[in-house]
Amino acid sequence: MKILGSCILFVLIFLLLIVIAAEQIPSTVYNSVLFSGHKKDVSPEAASNKSNSATHRTAEATEDIQEGENCEPSWNRACSEEVLRIARRPETTEWLRSIRRRIHENPELAFEEIQTSLLIRKELDLMGISYRYPLAKTGVRACIGTGGPPFVAIRADMDALPIQEAVECEYKSKVAGKMHACGHDAHVAMLMGAAKILKTREHLLKGTVVLIFQPAEEAGNGAKRMIQDGALEDVEAIFAVHVSHQHPTAIIGSRPGPLLAGCGFFRAVIRGKMALAGNPHHSIDPVLAGSAAVISLQGIVSRESNPLDSQVVSVTSFNGGNNLDMIPDTVVLGGTFRAFSNTSFYQLLERIEQVIVEQAGVYRCSAEVDFFEKEYTIYPPTVNDDKMYEHVKKVSIDLLGQTNFKVVPPMMGAEDFSFYSQVVPAAFFYIGIRNETLGSTHTGHSPHFMIDEDVLPIGAAAHATIAERFLIEYGCS
Ligand SMILES: *[C@@H]1O[C@H](CO)[C@@H](O)[C@H](O)[C@H]1NC(C)=O
Ligand SMILES: *[C@@H]1O[C@H](CO)[C@@H](O)[C@H](O)[C@H]1NC(C)=O
Ligand SMILES: *[C@@H]1O[C@H](CO)[C@@H](O)[C@H](O)[C@H]1NC(C)=O
Ligand SMILES: [Zn+2]
Ligand SMILES: [Zn+2]
Repeated sequence: MKILGSCILFVLIFLLLIVIAAEQIPSTVYNSVLFSGHKKDVSPEAASNKSNSATHRTAEATEDIQEGENCEPSWNRACSEEVLRIARRPETTEWLRSIRRRIHENPELAFEEIQTSLLIRKELDLMGISYRYPLAKTGVRACIGTGGPPFVAIRADMDALPIQEAVECEYKSKVAGKMHACGHDAHVAMLMGAAKILKTREHLLKGTVVLIFQPAEEAGNGAKRMIQDGALEDVEAIFAVHVSHQHPTAIIGSRPGPLLAGCGFFRAVIRGKMALAGNPHHSIDPVLAGSAAVISLQGIVSRESNPLDSQVVSVTSFNGGNNLDMIPDTVVLGGTFRAFSNTSFYQLLERIEQVIVEQAGVYRCSAEVDFFEKEYTIYPPTVNDDKMYEHVKKVSIDLLGQTNFKVVPPMMGAEDFSFYSQVVPAAFFYIGIRNETLGSTHTGHSPHFMIDEDVLPIGAAAHATIAERFLIEYGCS
């Protein structure tokens, strides 16, 4: 998930009228506090069969099949317990840890996830799971189940960040300047865990689960390319998880509707005519035109948008001229905008362009506005479908207990999962990795970021159950 540095509280935004500064790509910092200090509460149903798990050595035990038979037409507690039991087998948790650590040691940046993708495909081969490759250069689309409808997708991102790891551990990043500082290594491991669980239960699936391993979440909009390459073919709904240092280990959090903001950037070139400053009537002044545009941009949020619908427009860059005696022929200004609803987001985009172009016109200048759509730096809001959110909530509570699910507030960060949520009903949720004892309390994108690996089997079980139950409860069978 991207957490953007310029996501300052609205109050500050209003104070910040014009920042004349060199333009920069936003750095990434977390800024909001959701929950902390909730005690981990493993519910009886989640923990009850934990001690049994050591005695179940092999995956192919026929008892898996017998116990699973009862999960259709209606899912019950025994089904949840069975999924957790498979996830918590010592050999499964060891394997999950090993996958996560191998990926953690060898972090790869956006669209360079060669080894990560290879590791995933080798493990899928070992499990006898078929897949399509490559999508979006390094992406993988695997299928488990009947091969027929309905289709439900669960997604993990694979890319790391250009950050030097500051955590000392046996599986520390071996690549200088690169690190899995956003937990995508854990996302891959949890999705592989779901693959293992679902493969064990494949004969019970009432349709097909599509596992999407995508590149380039942090940069380059891997999701968009995955969709272009057919990742969502036949898919009726999609789910994804992100680890969160704001929740204790294995606590699941989400919310209906807008969860993460849409985020875009703009850069406008305003053209006039150069002239000596002593003879302004010979110029067409882009500095004046640009200034008027900046002032007018502030009116979009303050005058045109519903105050209950959070939005931001910030101008962060204004450059033109370097000779104090000369009116320049161009001014380049730019900034960023955020919104939580798709409509508001695209309205902002449209109005930013109109305001700049029209204000330039008032002063006889011309203007062009670039929103970097080609460079893939525009992210729509991540909006959870109400029904899919309810599904995640219900599955989480049945699996982990009432107290292990939290409704979370929206955040100003952005996620490229939003591209999937534009195409099919979707739900994005968090899973806690915070453990004070281990020290996994640092924000994503920090060089000190680390996770509590106890999250892996729970995340795998959550993914698997969300998918399997979707096929039973929402499928058309
Ligand atoms: C969980 O353990 C209880 C008690 O040992 C047992 O009756 C039940 O069948 C087990 N359930 C599963 C899913 O293993
Ligand atoms: C969001 O708005 C854009 C532009 O109007 C549109 O193309 C897209 O389909 C919308 N997405 C959703 C989910 O409504
Ligand atoms: C934190 O991690 C330690 C060591 O693995 C473990 O004993 C403890 O139960 C964990 N605490 C929580 C709240 O998960
Ligand atoms: Zn992330
Ligand atoms: Zn991130």
